[in-house]
This record gives sequence, C-alpha cells and structure tokens, in this order.
Amino acid sequence: MPIVTLHKGGEVFRDEVADNSNLVVRAGIRKFPYPNFKYKCGMGKCATCTSLIISGGEHLPEPNWKEKKILGDRLAKGFRLACQLWIHHDIELTQEFDAERAGPASDAEATVTG
Ligand code: FES
Repeated sequence: MPIVTLHKGGEVFRDEVADNSNLVVRAGIRKFPYPNFKYKCGMGKCATCTSLIISGGEHLPEPNWKEKKILGDRLAKGFRLACQLWIHHDIELTQEFDAERAGPASDAEATVTG
C-alpha cells in the first residue's frame, strides 16, 4: 500500500493509505492526512488542494483538463491538484510553497476559456 508523506509547518506526517486513495476524499472523512490537508471543493475548481509533489510524481497520471486549466504552467514545476489524484504509489508532498514559485492562481483561469 502507498506511503504518503506530507510536509507541513516543519513537521512530517506520514501514513499508509489504501491503493487508489484520494487524499481529499480521505481528509473529508477525517482520515489521514486530516486535519493537516487543505481542500475545499473536491472537484478541481478552487485550487485549495494545490500540492507541490516532492517525490513520486513520476507515478502520477497525466494531468486532466481541470488541472491544466487551474494550474497551467505550474504543472511543469511539480504542482498538482490533490483532489484529482488517486494514489497508487508512495508520494511525498507539501501544500506550503512560496507564492512566487507557484505563481498567481488566476493566471491559467484568465487565459483558458470554457
Ligand atoms: S479541492 Fe478544490 S480544486 Fe481540489
């Protein structure tokens, strides 16, 4: 089963999750990484769950259209929308990153229509 490692506030939270887990769904039912995981809509719309993938990103599927629309250029920098990811392999991530690296959230939305 995949091991998820979450870095937050200088601490490291780590636990095993079932194969094919979604971290936002898990947090929604108060399982790890709850209460240390930020999310809101769970539908790829709000960007609250934006996560910087530290390791294991190579095992993730290609970004879907929602991730492309919301994250734009940030995908190439290692950012993903956790609510759009089902975890099958070990992964290490954080939701803390400097805003300059992440870029404004509205960039992609401003240039993509539909
Ligand atoms: S929780 Fe809103 S985009 Fe992921």
